[in-house]
Amino acid sequence: MKSPLLPFAVSVLLLGCAAPSGRQKLPADLPHLEKRGNVTQLIVDGKPFLALGGELHNSSSTSTAYMKSIWPKLRAIGLNTVLAAVSWEQVEPEEGVFDFSALDDLIRDARANEVKLVALWFASWKNGISSYQPAWVKRDAERFPLVKTKSGAALNILSTTGEQTVQADAKAYAAMLRHLREVDTDRTVIMVQLENEVGLHGDTRDYHPDAAAKFGAPVPEALTAYLAAHRDSLLPELRDAWTAAGGKTSGTWEEVFGKGDYTDELFMAWRYATYMNAIAEAGKAEYPLPVFVNAWIVQPQDKRPGDYPSGGPQAQTHDVWRAGAPAIDMLCPDIYLPEFPDVLKLYSRAGNPVFIPESSAGVNGAANAVYAIGEMGAMGYSPFGIEAYGYVSSATGIVTAEDASKDISPLAFAYRQLSDLSPKILEHQAAGTIRAAWLKRENPSVREATLTLGGYRISVALRKTRGSADLPPVGYALVMMDGKDEYTVMGYDVDVTFEPLEGAHMAGLAKVQEGDYVNGKWVAERWLNGDEIQLRYDLLEAQKVRQSGQGLRFAGANPKLQKVELFEF
Ligand code: DGJ
Repeated sequence: MKSPLLPFAVSVLLLGCAAPSGRQKLPADLPHLEKRGNVTQLIVDGKPFLALGGELHNSSSTSTAYMKSIWPKLRAIGLNTVLAAVSWEQVEPEEGVFDFSALDDLIRDARANEVKLVALWFASWKNGISSYQPAWVKRDAERFPLVKTKSGAALNILSTTGEQTVQADAKAYAAMLRHLREVDTDRTVIMVQLENEVGLHGDTRDYHPDAAAKFGAPVPEALTAYLAAHRDSLLPELRDAWTAAGGKTSGTWEEVFGKGDYTDELFMAWRYATYMNAIAEAGKAEYPLPVFVNAWIVQPQDKRPGDYPSGGPQAQTHDVWRAGAPAIDMLCPDIYLPEFPDVLKLYSRAGNPVFIPESSAGVNGAANAVYAIGEMGAMGYSPFGIEAYGYVSSATGIVTAEDASKDISPLAFAYRQLSDLSPKILEHQAAGTIRAAWLKRENPSVREATLTLGGYRISVALRKTRGSADLPPVGYALVMMDGKDEYTVMGYDVDVTFEPLEGAHMAGLAKVQEGDYVNGKWVAERWLNGDEIQLRYDLLEAQKVRQSGQGLRFAGANPKLQKVELFEF
């Protein structure tokens, strides 16, 4: 797609490029995104890849020495991807003088620890604030202007209107991508996150005079043309506001979208999106790794944009981001709110590829990862602050966390199973033959879930311990259809039952075996039967709801995978 900021972006490219885009020869094994079936997958080393990740704390990756004690922990957790910051201030301490030694060390150590890296480019903005720009940028507000409040006071946030700011950021970013192209011949770095949780704090829009002038000017043609071209597929938030204001394709921001906070937010979204598109384009001209941005999502207590960063890639502004930033491949949510599936649904609309750069670890993280990958076609999942986690149980032989809330065991277990299953999962994602359930005791509406897959309705319920009314706090299941009456199931603290979609028959379990996938091959262990599959004996009651009384039971700390063959009676 043509850039809405082409003349601007070109000037950035010329500044930032030692090797202009036309001359570069792209490596065949370059990490890239690919649409397979209805999902977008990340292709690494020529194959679909499931990123079982973890994001480091913000400052960890700036020091090779500091990272020394972190790598063994990451290795013990069993991640295959580490998300790590690369900060502009460290990379370009003096204008035009670049130092990528910390990044080089990170790549070397990631390779030694057999993980891939996602580089988080912390530059103009981090959590909406500006603190990662080098001191020479901080000290020159003339050249690199700051946001202004309504009363004209400056905030410590770079204004999107700074033309030299975007050029300087893009130049450093392009230098990093050029460097990666030159040094990262093993393709350890597989994606880049551009900035971090951008958006304006404190007010709905920037009142810097240049920003105010742009707000009073006509909406750029690139955006109105996008609205007209996508009239029928716009997300409801934008479509409704635009339609309510008369569906105009020209006019000022308030004429096109109406007067109010949402229009201010859309304006800021356009400002951030086009600024970051220029940077993304400069980087892609050097080395076109997949690029995503992450959103600080709206919190329940927020009343208006500015309470949360206004103009960030929040769900309600996605159309503006798509129109303004075609060089950005994904708009990702950082999900710390409990209702993970609801947020993910909002952020995966209109074909937005699914990757979660920041969320929780623990058993909640395990359920989130399984749901994202099994139900939403995610290419990966990553809890934040991963190095704070470890094993609290000495059973593993590795004890790195003393605080029980930092126990990585449930997530590490889920990652191990997901990793073993990943070739199969990725094929099932592409074929649309995979589903997942995410269950929580605290919310009665999600203590059970019903999934339709193949010819069966599959019920997943938090597992009741026999003789007790207690439910476990969290459960999950991932179900893949291997054949007409055959399924592979990964589950945790759940019972799974089957019911034919059609006819009056019931589903019986022809054969159930537990086991593992090892090097892509199913290695069976126990044949499960008797108490291990009998969920209830009130068969007449069960029959009323078309249940045989038998099902798959996933109990205990580390339940194995199960393969089931069904029959009808
Ligand atoms: C979200 C940010 O994106 C992270 O970099 C970090 O600041 C966390 N919040 C802290 O909770």
